[in-house]
Amino acid sequence: MCGIVGCILAEKSASKKAFESLLRLKYRGYDSAGMAGIEDGKLVVKKDAGKLEEINQRINFLEITSNIVIGHTRWATHGAPTRENAHPHIDCNGEVAVVHNGVIENFQELKDELIESGHKFRSRTDTEVVPHLVEEGFKKGYDLFNSVLYAVKRIKGSYALAIISTREPDKIICVCNESPLIIGIGVDGMYCASDIPAILPYTNKIISLKNGEIAVLRHDSYIIRRILDGSPVTRSPQIIDWSPDVAMKQGYPHFMLKEIHEQPQSLRNGLRLQEKYLDLISLFMDRGKKIFIVAAGTSYHAGVAASYMFSKLAKVHVHPVVASEFIENYGDAIDIDTVVLAVSQSGETYDTLKAVDYARMRAATVIGITNTLGSTLTRVSRAYILQQAGPEIGVAATKTFTSQLIVLAQIALRLSKMRGKLSQDEIDEFKSKLHEIPDIVDEVIKSSESRVKEIVNKYRDENLFIFIGRGISTATALEGRLKLLEISYIPSIAYPAGESKHGPIAIIEEGVPVIVIAPNDSTRKDIIGNIMEMKARGARIISICEAGDREIAELSDDIIEIPRGVHELLTPIPYVIPLQLFAYYMAVEKGFNPDEPRNLAKSVTVP
Ligand code: G6P
Repeated sequence: MCGIVGCILAEKSASKKAFESLLRLKYRGYDSAGMAGIEDGKLVVKKDAGKLEEINQRINFLEITSNIVIGHTRWATHGAPTRENAHPHIDCNGEVAVVHNGVIENFQELKDELIESGHKFRSRTDTEVVPHLVEEGFKKGYDLFNSVLYAVKRIKGSYALAIISTREPDKIICVCNESPLIIGIGVDGMYCASDIPAILPYTNKIISLKNGEIAVLRHDSYIIRRILDGSPVTRSPQIIDWSPDVAMKQGYPHFMLKEIHEQPQSLRNGLRLQEKYLDLISLFMDRGKKIFIVAAGTSYHAGVAASYMFSKLAKVHVHPVVASEFIENYGDAIDIDTVVLAVSQSGETYDTLKAVDYARMRAATVIGITNTLGSTLTRVSRAYILQQAGPEIGVAATKTFTSQLIVLAQIALRLSKMRGKLSQDEIDEFKSKLHEIPDIVDEVIKSSESRVKEIVNKYRDENLFIFIGRGISTATALEGRLKLLEISYIPSIAYPAGESKHGPIAIIEEGVPVIVIAPNDSTRKDIIGNIMEMKARGARIISICEAGDREIAELSDDIIEIPRGVHELLTPIPYVIPLQLFAYYMAVEKGFNPDEPRNLAKSVTVP
């Protein structure tokens, strides 16, 4: 996730406004930043790696004296956070500047083709293909609008783009596809940005662009068209009346709720991984004789779920281990035949890095999954994959958990393919189920939120919750418990349901709430048995189950339904959503701030 802005005014004060907008977009990315304007018919580009204010002290963005400016604040996904990789990116002739938020999936093919035809690339980003494609449009004799159209028709993926050119310095072209982009209609000019808060101080008249739309902004007018057929779009601006604090959270009261709602998008981004890195990671895993997933907190739960994926899809035993226990428990067994897959949202968790260092010293192969390019984990791993979830501000991980799961599922599938463990039909089937997940999550958020609030209201005074699941749903139960515990401070336990009779059932008495993760998978019959055991002892059952599962509904006091047909190895993704919402609304109900739970930190970088 990155943040983009554009500003075209009658006066030459666009850099100041764009800079202030970027400051308000910092939460979308903060490893590098840049701006471009047009001065006396020439492009002026200023950009660097680092934090926005520090960069500004070094290179003073406000020196750009222009009525037209585009800007960017970056959260690196393709290419490390360096000056060269910072946006804006320009074409060979210095006529076109582009800022981009999203992922261009086919950039490598396009880049190879453009290099072949003589283009010079300066960065390792996916974005840089765009200015070069616009340049190609110019070569074909198109104007700026049609050159941009030519470019976007060639790229695949997600993009919010703002593009300027010295050839037509009176306009900004904006394009939107699966990355957010809004237009602001001001009295002094026109604006565009990744989100509303960025430009709210200048105007509250906002139009959200939809997928497949392209807009042309002049200082005193705008038009929107559909990319597909060029037909004009008429949409009235909304008048936004948010307070500054609410605006930062895009209308949500907390970052956590905003991030829960961002999951359809972060999952879509998580499906746009580069094939070559999936291959590389799978190759390393295939060579390992002992494979561990090492992680902490929520990332560990993703690792628990992944161990089922690897075993069922690729027929490989992958052992998930809590990072702080890794050395003590398995240290002596680590050797050159060991592969450690470290999963860490931040890439900076002390325990995970310590385990990784230890493994490297014993000649093991370390590979990583992280949400943070440039983090220590990316530097010490032989290969890594980025989750593409964008920065997460809420301390309790939500969107980064589901994006870890979707990345891990793709690695398991790739490994299975490499090892010849699934038929082509099975591979195709799993792939299509993977691609259904973002829409299913969207539906779950929409359909379950008010139901979850009712359930919170009913159980608000409980002082113990028990979470159970079987098979891969054990991971879902563990994560649901962690969410509730960390932000609403209610003592809770979670365990694989089969363990009930070995201890936990002793604490069940009249009225104890038990949250059961009960998808329609191979464990369903057994979990029904567990529900009955619990009910017989007076427990109140809250089930997360497949829509239309009458048997479970009849045994439960409350149910939350998830659409049918989710692949059993992907159930943790939609099934955890109501649990995230449950924890969130419970914390709010109790008057706690879910974004800043007591005693906890987003990234634990100390022993
Ligand atoms: C902290 C955070 C958790 C997170 C864990 C691991 O405890 O509060 O939300 O899951 O660290 O963090 P990592 O960045 O390694 O995924």
